[in-house]
Parts: sequence; C-alpha cells; structure tokens
Amino acid sequence: MTMANDYFFGKPEIIEEKVDILIIGGGMAACGCAFEIMRWAEGTGLKIKLVDKAAMDRSGAVAMGLSAINTYMGENDPADYVRYVRNDLMGIIREDLVYDVGRHVDDSVHNFEEWGLPVWKQPGDEGKRLVDGGKPVRSGRWQIMINGESYKGIVAEAAKKSLGIENIQERVFIVRLVTDKNDPARVAGAVGFSVRDHKFYIYKFKCCLIAAGGAVNVFRPRSVGEGIGRTWYPVWNAGSTYAMAAECGAEMTMMENRFVPTRFKDGYGPVGAWFLLFKAKAMNAYGEDYQEKNKHTLEQYGKYGKPPYGTCVRNHLMLEEMRNGFGPIYIDTPTAMAELAKNMTPKQVKHLEAEAWEDFLDMTIGQAGVWAGENIEPEKQPSELMPTEPYLLGSHAGCAGIWVSGPTDIPGVPSHWSWGYNRMTTVKGLFTAGDGVGASGHKFSSGSFTEGRIAAKSMVKFALDHKGWKPEPVHSVHDLVEEIYRPVRTFLEHKDYTTAIDVNPHYITPKMLQLRLQKIMDEYVAGVATWYRTNAKMLEVAERKLEMLKQDSLKTRAKDLHELLRAWENYHRIIAAECHMRHIQFREETRYPGYYYRTDFPKIDDDKWRVFVNSKYDRDSGKWTFRTEPYVQLIKD
Ligand code: FAD
Ligand code: ADX
Repeated sequence: MTMANDYFFGKPEIIEEKVDILIIGGGMAACGCAFEIMRWAEGTGLKIKLVDKAAMDRSGAVAMGLSAINTYMGENDPADYVRYVRNDLMGIIREDLVYDVGRHVDDSVHNFEEWGLPVWKQPGDEGKRLVDGGKPVRSGRWQIMINGESYKGIVAEAAKKSLGIENIQERVFIVRLVTDKNDPARVAGAVGFSVRDHKFYIYKFKCCLIAAGGAVNVFRPRSVGEGIGRTWYPVWNAGSTYAMAAECGAEMTMMENRFVPTRFKDGYGPVGAWFLLFKAKAMNAYGEDYQEKNKHTLEQYGKYGKPPYGTCVRNHLMLEEMRNGFGPIYIDTPTAMAELAKNMTPKQVKHLEAEAWEDFLDMTIGQAGVWAGENIEPEKQPSELMPTEPYLLGSHAGCAGIWVSGPTDIPGVPSHWSWGYNRMTTVKGLFTAGDGVGASGHKFSSGSFTEGRIAAKSMVKFALDHKGWKPEPVHSVHDLVEEIYRPVRTFLEHKDYTTAIDVNPHYITPKMLQLRLQKIMDEYVAGVATWYRTNAKMLEVAERKLEMLKQDSLKTRAKDLHELLRAWENYHRIIAAECHMRHIQFREETRYPGYYYRTDFPKIDDDKWRVFVNSKYDRDSGKWTFRTEPYVQLIKD
C-alpha cells in the first residue's frame, strides 16, 4: 500500500524548548498579547514564543476579514457597554471583566487604524483619524464600519513585528497542557506537533496564554453533503481552548451558553450591517412582521422578554415562526435599499449596491457566491435567513469559557474574583483571553485583542515574580509522544487486517468519529434536528453516548499527518461537547431561549439560576464537578 506521506512512519523528531512565556494561538487575542507583551518585557530578558496551528496572517475567526469592528466605545460610557452586554447575555456576565474590556478597547482600535486599517468616516471627517476626533460611521451604538478584508494581516504584522519573527512558530498544533510534577495545580508545559513536518514539540514555561478560539463542528452543521465544510465559524477552531484548559484542571464557567447566529441562508453571510446600517426588516413567508406577531410568546421570560431584545430572544421570535410553519424567513433587502436610495443620486445608489456586496466580500465571500449562483440581486429580491447550528465561543454574542481572575481596581468586586493576576485561570500560570474568557461576551475582534493585551501585562508580572522557578512537566517526553502518536500506532498495527483502508474493526477514522459526535449533539443536546430543544431524558442518553464516544476516541486512526490533526481536533471537540452538555444538564432552566430550550424547565428562573455555573474536570477519573457562584451586579440597571 502506498501512503501519501511515507516519511510519517517512524519516530518524529523531538524538539524541546524552554521559554518563559508561551502564547498558544495566533488569532486576535494572541496578536494582542504578542503586540503588548514586549512593552512590559523589554529589558527583562524574558524569552517569549507564540505558536499557531495555522498561518497568523489568515488564522482564526478574522481570517476572511471583517466589515465592522463590533466593539468601539467612542462617545459611549463603558458602564453602558456593561448594561448592553448584560442585557444581551440574559443577565449573567462578569461585569468586572466586561468593564475592563470596555475601558481599554478604544486604544486597540486606534492602533489598528494607525497600522493601516481603513475605518469609515462620517462625511467631512474623511482622512481624520479616530484618535484625532474623526467620527466613524456607526452601524449600531457599539459597532463601526471598516474596509476590513485585510484586517487580520494588518494585526498579525504588528504582532510579528513586536515579538520578532524568530519567536513565532506557525503550523504547530498544541494538543495538551501538562501540569507541574511538584504542583498539580500549576501548568508547566505544552505539547504538540507540526502539521507540515514530522516533528513533535514540547515547550516548558513559567506561564502561558491559551487563546485558541472557540469550537465549531461540535454540532451537525446545516451544510452537509456537497455543502460540507461551510460553517459560520472558522473550521480550525476546534474547542482546543476549552478542552486543554479543562483537562489541565481549570474551572470552566457558563459552558451551557452557546451562540446560534441568524445568518443569510447557506452562505452564512452576516446580518449586522443589514439590520443596523441598512435598516432592513425581516419578515415571514407571507410578508408579516413575525417579531410583532410572536411578541406574546416572550411573556414567559419576564423582563428578559422585553425590548431591546437580546440576540437569543431575537432568534426565539424567528424560531417560533419557523416551527409554526410560516417560513422561510426573509430579510427585505429591496425595501431597505429603496428607502436608502430615495434621496441619492444614481452614482450614490451604485455605491450603495457596491457596499451591499462588499459587506460579504470583506468577510464572508461564500455568501456573495450564493447571491451570484442563485441570481439574487439584493436590490430586487429578498434573501432567506436561517438560524445556524450552535457554536461554543466567548467573544461574540456568547459567553462560554474559563473562569478567570479579574481586575483589582473596580469597586464592589468580590475579593475572591481576583487572585493576583488579571485573566489568569484557576490553574497557576495558565492565562486566557478572547473566546477563552467565560461570562464576558461581546468583546468581538477589538475586545479580544484588548483582552490579550491585558493578559500580556499580567503574564510578564507573573513570569518576573517567579523568575527562579523551574518547570518540570509531570509526564515524560516519551509518554507524551506515545500518547499523541497513538492514532498512528493504531493505524500501523491494524491497517493490513482489511483491504479497504477505511473499513476496519480495530479503528475509527477521524471523520467517522466527528460525524458520530455531531449526530449525538444534534439529536440530544438541542441541535437543529430538534429545533434546539432538549430535556433531562435526552441529556441522559447523550451522556451515555458521549461516554462511549470518548472511549472509542482512543481507537481513532491517523493514516497521515493530516488525520493526526483531525484526530486530536475531534478529541478536543468531544471534551468541549461534554462540558457543554453537562452544563446544560446542570442548569435547570431555559436561560437562553432562541439558543436552546430545556423543555422540562421552560422558564427563566432568576431566583434560583441568576448565578454562574462553574465546572471542573478530573482527567484521570473522567468526572465533572459543579458549583454555582452568586451573581454580583456592579453596575446598576
Ligand atoms: P481567533 O481569532 O479565532 O484565534 C484563534 C487562534 O487559535 C487561531 O490563530 C487558530 O489558528 C489558533 N488555534 C486554534 N487551535 C489551536 C491549537 N490547538 N494549537 C495552536 N493554535 C490553535 N468581530 C468584529 O469585531 N466584527 C465583526 O464583524 C466580526 N465578525 C465575525 C464573523 C465571524 C464569522 C466570526 C466567527 C467572528 C466574528 N467576529 C467579529 C468576532 C471576532 O472574530 C472574534 O471575537 C475574535 O477573532 C476572537 O479572538 P480569539 O483570539 O479568541 O480567537
Ligand atoms: S458578525 O460579527 O458576524 O458580523 P452580526 O452581523 O450578526 O455579526 O452582528 C454584528 C453586530 O451587530 C453585533 O454586535 C451584533 O450583536 C449586532 N446585531 C446584529 N443584528 C442585530 C439586530 N437585529 N439588532 C441589534 N443588534 C444586532
């Protein structure tokens, strides 16, 4: 049998590196960290390294570019930002963390502009920078419009320049964090492999940032068959942040939360610019305003069912309509454009049409493909909207993530919410930012970058405070190599048992494993198959099936380097999925109608459940433990 990459077989080259600080990920949060860290580390002699599984210029959620920066304060008070985020996330956020992002975020946006990111300006202010008082074009109160196709490249360039290209390693997938031999509550190392060369890496450090984004493809996507691979969220963020942190013993928070974005159907095109900037309206198949029609169904959600509706509540109104058979749902682009064009010259109308296309071309090119492929002219024909499959993330309109230490200078914050280093998890030396930080959504690109900067400052402090400390990972290099290359051994041992390479009783392919996970999550854990509904009985089945899947994951095969990557991505997905499922099981209420429903507890129960749900995973026993943390409101309504 000839293999695509024969070099793969045999022991990998083992590379051990000792640094002071490791940054895992190359997305917005990691770039923020890399940019900021040298300001504090200059002259200290600290050795800092960044590893990304992909290429930083186009890695992470901003890969395709963006058409808006969704978090920019400008004339707004950060306290109002906290109110906005609290309302959107149904009353449960870490207000200290959200405020911390709000008060620092604008400086990051000013930097982006300085580095060359074009920010739209009000007429008369063209050419005037934000920092000099230039007025941005706002799509909403918090969002500003940009020409952002090259956003990620611009930000990555600044990060690379700051850290030095020699301290950046791309295409290394981190599989696991390792605790310290002398202190199981402390992280000492990280291990992974190159996705291009046959090399195994072990990094030892004093502290690290885990900023590997959220989780996609945990649930069966709506795009299957010929459309598979198309999802809203970037396909390379596989829950590594959550899985690695949980396996290392970090306390997780609000992992029951998820994000179900309503999007232009099939291409997953964004709706923000259309709703907020172009003032488009959505309607049911018969042209009716379904928001008005279904308003009465919100009574059961008390104050959370009142405008301004949170993102999940907006979804709920749409889902009601679809479940009751009044779909498809359309976004009325022609009326919106005609309204805007009323007082425009023909040239301005052409410009408006170009902007409508550019909104997609800047950030979701596939949607422009759908328009072109289906002969949709947005000024003439409405487009279908659809709520997508669920994603786990902590920086968009969701707040799944890790429980972290917060800032110390905000009045009223419980003292135990801050254990010395801002954005450090409950594992000593393990920091996170962006999608990693739980209970603090709506950071978006700018806020995630900012949070990386906040973490950078405290990581330098941590490394300097522990200057003499020597990391000693609890596992030997030999054991770690054996563990990570198990899928390869499994393949080599059993491949000749059958003549069809994908059919073998001794192993499971990464693809099959992923399909099984997606089926379980879709059918039992409130995926699209059940219109996002679940109950205790369904979750019990999911629990049993996920347990078996976890066992079977030990039999995943890897016939090449690419499959080895897929094998471990799926393992990360399974741990993230299990955490999500168990959190939903624990929270006996429907906190996020429109994201998911507990049909056995259909209401929002503030008396009992306006609390954080926190969990801890014990990797050795496979057991999860839960606790609740009382809510503390810092900023009055
Ligand atoms: P990411 O930027 O996603 O970075 C994750 C990084 O981790 C990547 O570099 C990835 O390669 C790396 N990685 C993953 N796993 C591993 C591993 N195991 N080992 C090593 N590296 C790993 N924000 C806005 O402000 N405006 C918008 O218009 C907007 N639109 C969006 C549209 C979409 C489709 C999405 C998904 C997000 C959008 N956002 C927008 C939000 C914004 O992109 C995110 O908030 C932000 O990118 C989160 O930053 P992060 O660093 O946590 O994750
Ligand atoms: S994007 O980040 O992927 O482009 P999206 O287009 O949904 O997301 O939203 C961009 C911004 O607009 C986010 O801050 C989102 O919360 C907000 N937004 C989107 N639709 C609405 C709406 N109908 N009402 C209020 N805010 C909205």
